[in-house]
Amino acid sequence: MSAMRLDKYLALSGERTRSEAARAVRNGQVRVNGVPARDPAMKLADGDEVTLAGVPVLDRSFQYYMLHKPAGVLTASRDSRAATVMDLVPEALLRRKVLPVGRLDKDTTGLLVLTNDGALAHALLNPKRHVWKRYIARVSGRLDEADAEAFAAGMALDDFVAKPAKLAILRAEEAESLAAVELREGKFHQVKRMFLARGHEVLALHRAAFGPLTLPDSLQPGGFCELTAAQVRALQDAVAKPESGEG
Ligand code: URA
Repeated sequence: MSAMRLDKYLALSGERTRSEAARAVRNGQVRVNGVPARDPAMKLADGDEVTLAGVPVLDRSFQYYMLHKPAGVLTASRDSRAATVMDLVPEALLRRKVLPVGRLDKDTTGLLVLTNDGALAHALLNPKRHVWKRYIARVSGRLDEADAEAFAAGMALDDFVAKPAKLAILRAEEAESLAAVELREGKFHQVKRMFLARGHEVLALHRAAFGPLTLPDSLQPGGFCELTAAQVRALQDAVAKPESGEG
């Protein structure tokens, strides 16, 4: 955020009109970095934390979206040869430098967060603060409890040891099974590689949840929507929490 007046920041966040915001400041309801602010014209700096009546106020100079990534598009900046998720994003957002947070494989569908809030994106991808992601996987062969235990124990792959993950078997049949997988890492092809290490090929992969966000049924493949203030706060809270043990 470039230097912005406090009353403008509050008005942009949608919490108050500009004159109501100025009044709230004068009434001592607004704090900046924990200190009561008195001047609505006060200039904010990058990283300043603003609260109104004790509740954090979002920086609306950033944009936050969720996309239902369809199969067949790359999570990459624009590519002249292949379709990318950026082809699904309106020009106005491209101009504001909104980018995907992390990657999904070309054939993977589901929830992808897009934002130009680089600090939040960075924190969401930080391995130390990695938020849980939930995938639905259709895999070859019959999954069983030994697979769930192997996921839960953490798994040695070629070049790293995957942290403990959760595998819930939703349907197990001879030819194919369906499972929900939760993990907080995001290494290249990680879910596919974990199943492959157990002898199961991933036939379809869908990300249903990213931290506190769940892909709504109403959002069709290719569709995207702006996150609500509550959803952005939930993402910020997810990275603010200290690491809660292994697993
Ligand atoms: N794991 C994978 O293997 N692929 C994805 O797209 C996401 C997680």
